[in-house]
Amino acid sequence: MSDKRFYIETYGCQMNMADSEVVNSILMDEGMSPVHSAEEADVIFVNTCSIRENAETRVWNRLKEFRSLKKEKKDLTVGVLGCMAERIKENIIEKEQLVDIVVGPDAYRDIPNLLKEVNDGRKAVNVLLSLEETYADITPVRTSGNGVTAFVSIMRGCDNMCAFCVVPFTRGRERSRPLSSIMDEISQLNDQGYKEVTVLGQNVNSYQYEDIDFTKLMDEVSKANPEIRFRFSSPHPKDFPEPLLHLIAERPNLCNYIHIPAQAGSDTMLERMRRPYTRDQYLKLIDRMREIIPGVSLSTDIIAGFCDETEEEHEATMSLMKIVEYDLAYMFAYSERERTLAARKYEDNVPEKIKKRRLTEIIKQQMAIQEKNNKDEVARRHLVLVEGTSKKSDEQLSGRTDTNKMVVFDKKNFKKGDYVEVEVTDYTSATLIAKPIRKSSIAEFYNQTVVTA
Ligand code: SAH
Ligand code: SF4
Ligand code: F3S
Repeated sequence: MSDKRFYIETYGCQMNMADSEVVNSILMDEGMSPVHSAEEADVIFVNTCSIRENAETRVWNRLKEFRSLKKEKKDLTVGVLGCMAERIKENIIEKEQLVDIVVGPDAYRDIPNLLKEVNDGRKAVNVLLSLEETYADITPVRTSGNGVTAFVSIMRGCDNMCAFCVVPFTRGRERSRPLSSIMDEISQLNDQGYKEVTVLGQNVNSYQYEDIDFTKLMDEVSKANPEIRFRFSSPHPKDFPEPLLHLIAERPNLCNYIHIPAQAGSDTMLERMRRPYTRDQYLKLIDRMREIIPGVSLSTDIIAGFCDETEEEHEATMSLMKIVEYDLAYMFAYSERERTLAARKYEDNVPEKIKKRRLTEIIKQQMAIQEKNNKDEVARRHLVLVEGTSKKSDEQLSGRTDTNKMVVFDKKNFKKGDYVEVEVTDYTSATLIAKPIRKSSIAEFYNQTVVTA
């Protein structure tokens, strides 16, 4: 194996990004070396996503492109990793001749063996899900990041079974990673100069390892690494722990930003979606967040056109979003997924045209809200962590505020990885434009500045 070059292409959520780094580590331990394009590779892995139909379509199209590469290069190996693995298994190998290896999210340790099977001329599949696997002892290798921000998985799987969602089927049961291994990984990131860590799970507030719950985990990681700032994704509104809000309010390096997926705005829809909270409970939670953490920035996920959605239910989603005034929202048209409760029990009966129209209305309203929120940012000061040069100009840097807003400003003598105090001068719906004031640090900035709400 050791002379082989590999390339991993990643689709889907941040968990998949984090998993690709685990796979990197496993392959490099075998002596294989990472390359940055499919054309250079002897082994191509596609880490796949099943969350919506269009996510899968993109992967299929990509695999077809790799088929032509395979024709030119006879010994090229193509593998499918991640959430599509379970669904396609043998099918993909027999029917489409596109893929040599299929590996599910809990079977990455088996990749070296599977590669050997392929070398011996067989197709190889392992899609077994596990009750224990957390890859706790594998240190992810971050080959494609910016060297400043990193993801750290703290748990795997999901037990929530929201009616629309395929994740419990692709990723299996929920399990938490030991605190010590999370602490070790973050301490290594700290030594390597990383400045921001987002801790990841499909449902982070169910984190529980021995007597450590999610609030305790956030307490421990942020206390031990005062110059790393921490975010987390995603919590579930049904049981968001209030002590965590107080901790975020007190601790300078816990970001004042919470992604809190609502999905919908009416009790009837939330019930149908099997999201066990009401509109009222959700809005009360948002109120508590804003009371306890003044100026907290909020984002959400919304689905338009779920089964049986009425015009009133759609309006309720619109009005919820209007009340909360999120700083960011990920908005989707419902896409039916096999095996889910919705696929088995409900009818995907909102016509495509209406789904699209409702989604467009939701997006349009949200863009206006973001623009208004960003307008209010003008003249405020923020601490920005520089992630790199701006996409539009080499003379500008880009990074994010504590509240997760993208900011661009003149480069001057600042560089990637610096914490820079900036003052906002202008805005669009997606970006703040600022002038840099001075290089700073988390401790310095929060000791001297009253953060404006
Ligand atoms: N565990 C995370 C969500 C992971 S999936 C959470 O609960 O917050 C990310 C988002 O994709 C979901 O929040 C939901 O808004 C959306 N999504 C999931 N299944 C979907 C489907 N079948 N169709 C459209 N959007 C979907
Ligand atoms: Fe899917 Fe719901 Fe689990 Fe999120 S909490 S991964 S939406 S089942
Ligand atoms: Fe997609 Fe799997 Fe993530 S379905 S969103 S890659 S958990």
